[in-house]
Amino acid sequence: MGNSTSPALKRVEVTQEPVSSDVAPVVDADAALGRPLSLDGLHVAFGERKVLNGLTLDIPARQFVAVVGRSGVGKSTLMRLIVGLDKPGAGEVRIDGVPVNGLQPSVRLLFQDARLLPWQTVLNNVGIARRPGWREASLAALGDVGLVDRQSDWPAVLSGGQRQRVALARVLVSHPSILLLDEPFGALDALTRSDMHALLERLWLQHGFTTLLITHDVSEAVLLADRVVVIRDGQITYDVPITIPRPRRRSDAAIVALQSKILEQV
Ligand SMILES: Nc1ncnc2c1ncn2[C@@H]1O[C@H](COP(=O)(O)OP(=O)(O)OP(=O)(O)O)[C@@H](O)[C@H]1O
Ligand SMILES: [Mg+2]
Repeated sequence: MGNSTSPALKRVEVTQEPVSSDVAPVVDADAALGRPLSLDGLHVAFGERKVLNGLTLDIPARQFVAVVGRSGVGKSTLMRLIVGLDKPGAGEVRIDGVPVNGLQPSVRLLFQDARLLPWQTVLNNVGIARRPGWREASLAALGDVGLVDRQSDWPAVLSGGQRQRVALARVLVSHPSILLLDEPFGALDALTRSDMHALLERLWLQHGFTTLLITHDVSEAVLLADRVVVIRDGQITYDVPITIPRPRRRSDAAIVALQSKILEQV
């Protein structure tokens, strides 16, 4: 064990958890946490510009939905409504039947950049909320994303993919019932992205949060989601279930066929 005073040099010898999806998912106590989400006739306008125009979507608990749509159609705006950062001009967001009014602690957002505090170690970033028992919970979450051995490092020495894994660990610590991911892997190279897909799928199967993934990458949507929806002109214009068994392969003919079908709708 390292007892060095420099946080960047501390190490704890714990076996790193595997990151790939070839581990059988274990449904844990959190699995019941996923909650249903209803988007009911949402309208948002910025001045003259109508962004959401009666958008309606019902998502059952634990479903994994991918949201695709062209730049500027209102995908991030929608996420802000769900987490309670903004209010719709009309319509309602409901979580488990309860209207969202103000910031929702059970909803967590993950962005393209990990948004870690550079002056805090990896462990302290994960446990940033400092709830009772945060250290143990944070170590467990770092184990979940395969980064226990980097707990004492500063964010600056991590790769982009590792930073996103730390951000995922920080999300896991708070046991979200709904996870919103806004283009989380857009800045990563293809191989790292593919590792992150496997990791996200495993964590989702294990923890069971209702998941909304915004992505420009239709192949990512089809690989990961139970259902892909397309936003156009402020509404859901296409809604397709993906029933291809998991784990899915990018080269699978059914995946490729669905991708081109969805792309036609975007
Ligand atoms: N606070 C704001 N004030 C004014 N206009 C805004 C505001 N937030 C978003 N918009 C506008 O709303 C529209 C939708 O923005 P939003 O960020 O939701 O798009 P998006 O689908 O997430 O796009 P991208 O794929 O590029 O991230 C855009 O035209 C944007 O300029
Ligand atoms: Mg956006």
